[in-house]
Parts: sequence; structure tokens; C-alpha cells
Amino acid sequence: MQLTKLRGFRDLLGADARLLGIIEARARSIAERHNVAEIRVPALERLNLYARSTGETSDIVEKQLYVVQRSSESSGGVDQVLRPEGTPGVVRAYIEAGLDRTDPEQRYFYSGPMFRYERPQKGRYREFYQFGVEFFGRSDAAADAELMVMIDELRRELRLELNFEINSLGDARCRPFFRQALLEWGRAHLPQLCQDCHQRLERNPLRLLDCKIDVKLTESAPKSVDYLCDECRAHFDTVRELLANGGVPHTINPRLVRGLDYYSRTAFEVISTGVGAQSAVAAGGRYDGLVEALGGAPVAGTGFAIGVDRLALALDAAEFEVRPDAALIALGDSAARAAIQLSAEMRGRGLRVEVLSSERGLRAQLRRADKLKARYALIIGENEMAGGVVQLRDLAQSTQQEVPRAEVVERLAADAVSSPRFPGEGVPSELRTTR
Ligand code: HAM
Repeated sequence: MQLTKLRGFRDLLGADARLLGIIEARARSIAERHNVAEIRVPALERLNLYARSTGETSDIVEKQLYVVQRSSESSGGVDQVLRPEGTPGVVRAYIEAGLDRTDPEQRYFYSGPMFRYERPQKGRYREFYQFGVEFFGRSDAAADAELMVMIDELRRELRLELNFEINSLGDARCRPFFRQALLEWGRAHLPQLCQDCHQRLERNPLRLLDCKIDVKLTESAPKSVDYLCDECRAHFDTVRELLANGGVPHTINPRLVRGLDYYSRTAFEVISTGVGAQSAVAAGGRYDGLVEALGGAPVAGTGFAIGVDRLALALDAAEFEVRPDAALIALGDSAARAAIQLSAEMRGRGLRVEVLSSERGLRAQLRRADKLKARYALIIGENEMAGGVVQLRDLAQSTQQEVPRAEVVERLAADAVSSPRFPGEGVPSELRTTR
């Protein structure tokens, strides 16, 4: 029996896990500054939820769902699936809480693993992490722009180069004309289209523009922006104007249709150049008909999800590796108890401290402190206990001095403030103590 992890699933240890945590913490802090509330929804939902939202003909629903069945019982005829994305579950929860009727204007963020049975490659996993935001009850262009501004704030904090590609897919009134034009174009070019596009043509012609094979050919295909009604055109123009005013780097991508069915009007993807083929680090858009399609009131919606793993690829995990401020080395039982007390005081000042095992001798503990890349080793033995001092050893410099016990915490705290933090100043306060 194999006990290794499944293909497309990952174990994240140390710096790699920490980096995801840092991105999530920063995204959360940005969301909170935009007065977005948290929502936690199940990882397991009914298959129907995604068929009716993400889309029956989407790759996600057609090929990528993980269907879950308990071994001891059937699920009562209802297929349960691991969530492939966050939006449908959040919309369901919003409707189930009755908010669409009682208090429709809401903004939520969520964070957690999503599951898609895709062909794994760099930046594409079968379990991956999204941080998403959904706004309900806002049909104005400013809501779409605010979402992109939030991602842009994260881009600035993490000092990344990203470009926003935006498009408008029109709404229920004008999109049928665009769809029809694409259908006619597709039929006229049928012999040149790939096999997959033959299927797409009849089932979901918008997805012709998504094809990775017929890229050149689809350059001549109709563009959604040419079919927008006056209202959709005005909405799109306002989004662009607000992005320009907010300094969000963006370009129009008329081929951007998204692989999920629920979008109307604004659709966008955020592209990073440094992460390989899977370059979309975030994506989103407006979904004005979705709440109603899932049984709720006709309430507008708009949102995005960041691919946290892909953003992490754009950063260097090694830069986020942490070193303890101090490793505490105690020699003897009473020194060991004193070390525990000293470490508590140090942590109270926000220092990162590990108390090493006093069952080991001095040399072994010093080797361990070196291995941890601790900045200092604090050594406490019988003599130090008696003299009210500790030995403070700078491990990089290999220098050592005796410091009064009463002064050492203050001294290390001052030192930590002046030493470099992880890349990017303006570190939110909740991260400041965990460099
Ligand atoms: P999506 O484009 O399917 O949209 O996914 C959003 C982001 O999740 C992608 O841009 C990518 O960074 C990341 N992602 C997707 N699949 C994988 C994978 N297999 N491995 C690693 N990262 C992946 C949605 O999920 C929508 N719910 C976004 C949204 C929210 N629209 C409105 N509100």
C-alpha cells in the first residue's frame, strides 16, 4: 500500500507554508480595511450548485470535479463534490441566510483550499488556495473597480509586477447579439476550427475565444466590446476610468471570456509575467444574474479570487524564511526553569525564541542554535544564575559577552527593531512580531 501524497496535491513545509500565510494575512488585512466581512463556507457542496452556476458545459463541471461518497453509506442520491471554486458556495450561503431579501448589500471575503482535477504542472494543482471577495447588491462600476484596487493594493505591498486584463461580456440584453455573431463566425470558419471548438460552437460559443489552439484564427472573431448596449458600454467606460484614476495598470483583452458561465459585464484576469505558463494569479468579474439563478432575489454580484499559490510563485519563498531572534541554552535544572521564564518575557516583547533541550550539553545546544540560524544564543548555567547574568553569544560574529539578566530582554528587543524585517516595509502590525 502506498502512503505517499496524491498527484497534484502538495505538502507545504516551513517557508513555503509561511509564504501562503503571509499572502493570506495581507489580503485579509486589505479586505478588512475595505470593510469586507469574513465568511466561512463548507468545502463540500452539492454538485448541482456548480452545474447551475459555474456551468454545465464548463471544464470545471464537465471534467474537474471531485465527487465524494462516504464509504459506509450512499449520499441519498445527491452527488457531493469538493468545491472547485468559492463563489457558488458563498452565493448559496448568502441566499440561505435570507440576505438577498432582508439585507442585500453585503461584502464578504473567504480563504481556503479548492479542488479541481486538472493536469498538474507548475502553478496548477489539484488542491490550491484561493482568497476571494464577493460584493452583493452593488451594480455600480465603482464596485468592480474597488475589487481590482484591492488586488492592486496587494500587488503594491508585495512589490509585484502584475497587469490587469479587463473585458466586458455585456449583459442579458446585449450578449445574445454577441453570442449570435460568434456562432455565425464559427460556422463560417468550421473547417479551420479544432475538434474541441466544434463542440464549443454548439454548446458555448463564447468559449471559442478561450481556445489555446485557434488563437490566430480567433483574432478575426467578433469582439464583445463591439456589441455592448449603451448601459454596458457606460459601465465599462466608468470601470476603466476608475482604474486609470486609481493607478491600476490595465489593458483591454477582447478575448477574455473566462471559463466560468456566470459572468456578465466586467470580467478580468490579473497576469504575472514571472510564474510560467499559469500566469493568471487572480481573476474575477461581475455576476449579476447568479443570485437569481440559484433561487434568490435579483441581486447584483461582483467579485474576485486570488490564486494564493500562484502569487507565492511570483515571490521568493527563501526571502520569507525566518530566523529566531534567540535560542536559549540552559545548563542544569534550575537554569532550565529560568530559561523558560526568560523566554516568556522575550516573547512578550514580540521576539521569536526557542528554548533548546537542556538534556543536551553546551556543544550540542550551540550546534542546534547554529542550525536554527538564530541571531543570538543566550546561555544560562549555574554561574550565570548566581551572578544574575546571561552569556549573550552573537552566532554570526562568534562573539560573546556577559549581560545583566535584567537588561537582556530590552537589549534584544531594541536590536530586533533595528534589524531588517522581511521584504516590504509597512508591515501590518499582526505580522510585525513574526518576521
Ligand atoms: P478562476 O479563474 O477559476 O475564478 O480562479 C481564480 C484564480 O485561482 C486563478 O486566476 C488562479 O490564480 C487560481 N487557480 C485556479 N485554478 C488553479 C489551480 N488548479 N491551481 C492553482 N491555482 C489555480 C474563480 O474561481 C472565480 N470564483 C473567481 C471569482 C470570484 N469571480 C467572481 N468572484
